[in-house]
Amino acid sequence: MCGIVGVVGRQANDAIDVLLNGLKRLEYRGYDSAGIYYVDSMNQTDQVVKAVGPIKHLEAEVNQEQRAQTGIGHTRWATHGKASLTNSHPHVSQNERFVLVHNGVIENAAALKATYLQDVTFTSETDSEVIVQLVEHFASTQDVFEAFKHTLTLLEGSYAVLLMDREHTDEMYIAKHKSPLLLAVGEGFNGVCSDALAMIEYTDQFIALVDGDVATIRPTSYEISNLDGIERTPELFTANIDQEAAGKGTYPYFMLKEIDEQPIVMRRLVETYLNKENESAIDASIVEQMMEADRIYIIGCGTSYHAGLVGKKLIEEWTHIPVEVHIASEFAYYPPIISERPFFIFLSQSGETADSRQVLVQTNEMNYPSLTLTNVVGSTLAREATYALYLNAGVEVAVASTKAYTAQVGLLAILAQRVGDQRAIDATSQIDLAHELSMVSLAMEVVLEDKQQFETLAHDFLATTRKAFYIGRGVDYYSSIESALKLKEISYIQTEGFAAGELKHGTISLIEEETPVIGLITEAHTAGQTRSNLSEVASRGAHVLIISNETNAEPTDQYVIKNVHPTLQSLVTILPTQLLAYYATIERGYDVDKPRNLAKSVTVE
Ligand code: AGP
Ligand code: GLU
Repeated sequence: MCGIVGVVGRQANDAIDVLLNGLKRLEYRGYDSAGIYYVDSMNQTDQVVKAVGPIKHLEAEVNQEQRAQTGIGHTRWATHGKASLTNSHPHVSQNERFVLVHNGVIENAAALKATYLQDVTFTSETDSEVIVQLVEHFASTQDVFEAFKHTLTLLEGSYAVLLMDREHTDEMYIAKHKSPLLLAVGEGFNGVCSDALAMIEYTDQFIALVDGDVATIRPTSYEISNLDGIERTPELFTANIDQEAAGKGTYPYFMLKEIDEQPIVMRRLVETYLNKENESAIDASIVEQMMEADRIYIIGCGTSYHAGLVGKKLIEEWTHIPVEVHIASEFAYYPPIISERPFFIFLSQSGETADSRQVLVQTNEMNYPSLTLTNVVGSTLAREATYALYLNAGVEVAVASTKAYTAQVGLLAILAQRVGDQRAIDATSQIDLAHELSMVSLAMEVVLEDKQQFETLAHDFLATTRKAFYIGRGVDYYSSIESALKLKEISYIQTEGFAAGELKHGTISLIEEETPVIGLITEAHTAGQTRSNLSEVASRGAHVLIISNETNAEPTDQYVIKNVHPTLQSLVTILPTQLLAYYATIERGYDVDKPRNLAKSVTVE
């Protein structure tokens, strides 16, 4: 969600390009306006430039001839005040000495204004402007860095902040609490960004800042300390991002590319985690801790939560350990009764989701063992959990998550089988998971070859409707709610996923002539019941589309997926529904990768 880039000391005088390229790389995170502040110390000029809407609007405002060595940039996902020019960042203090960008939310902004800043005229409605005005306020009696730290001690909420002092533009002050921020270490320059992707063109050396870090960065040096002034010497890590793979290639949208990558992602999981020569890819202590657990708690949001629901079925079936799945934002403030020996699994594509992190902070306080499954190496949830395993799905750029979902389910299956095997559960030990996941890859490929059919089905069923339903039972119900989320988030069709048997208890009253109802049928023991539920809605005028698997197919079903191992079937079921969402959105003329109001990485609670 939103993004930050900063750079100090670009001798090539290309700081503006660095900022704009970085912001473009962060576009996937979601934003509604953008801005930069640059300094050309050669010619002693500096300027703030902002624009509402996409980065290209900002680019159009920037003087192409202008050179700069240092600067800060921001994409804003509005939380306080609408998306407007005055509310977009950077914000400048009243005396125009300080310039600031901020990601996050300052929860006590109103109280701070009332206590310290009654005489200040604010130019924006944002909570962020309070920070820069406070720095100015304290800098009248304190050294600037002290004034910055003093300000930070007063803030409640979350922040990644970059501050520039126009009287000393050869350095930048930065700080992090709850919102992601990395220091990018370059040759002859230093940078800062919310995701390594933003600076990867210029350096692959990064430092992951941790909560409470405050730092000063200059072209060839940096100092990191905490708010009490205790310095720390952080470790550098090398960001291993394949720039080619992170591009769209010949695809019109990232989402389609990412849907297509799913068979490869499955194979990569097999190679990484099921290769006999690489058994230590899953730390033995993860398996031991899971075996000792009397209950496993899976925490996630949105699509990751849905992957957790499928994971529950897998883990319970293959390990016989009970599993609870919780929406992170609910668990954080309404925790259930926790068992004596819990094990927590955090599912997060981005590894930065604030709601999930809130729970991780709590489970860490209780000393509960935890494991994060994420796609982003070195992300906050990966660093802060006891263990981390990576999805290795490659950068996922489209807001609508596809390959990360199937990778999460695939990796949970691998974990479940490993634990079940160790617990000597016979049926589990007999599963050749590498083979079964390879069959999943093949079945996925068959679906992907049939894209044209989904384009036609999307046209026939979803081109003009205002609402739609997905229904299924058991794991098909979980697939239904994930499919519904995918369709609604990008096509803006109001879509609900329902337990097939539950529709008649109220929601069936919404069925009208031509309302699309998509039934998912892959489990034999409830196929008959789901078909009855579909005929109930068809009798009331619904336009019924059925996706089934070979075992449960009937000649009139619109699409039949290949059978795979029954416990892994949902990995294939989801592909037709991802494609329906994609083509429905194309048909309706919306931007598939960047749906309105949404962000890829949701870093506020
Ligand atoms: C997926 O299509 C959504 N955009 C969203 O629900 C997402 O899965 C959710 O915000 C959780 O993100 P995470 O996996 O990065 O934690
Ligand atoms: N809360 C700030 C605002 O509304 C920052 C939002 C962001 O993280 O982009 O301006």
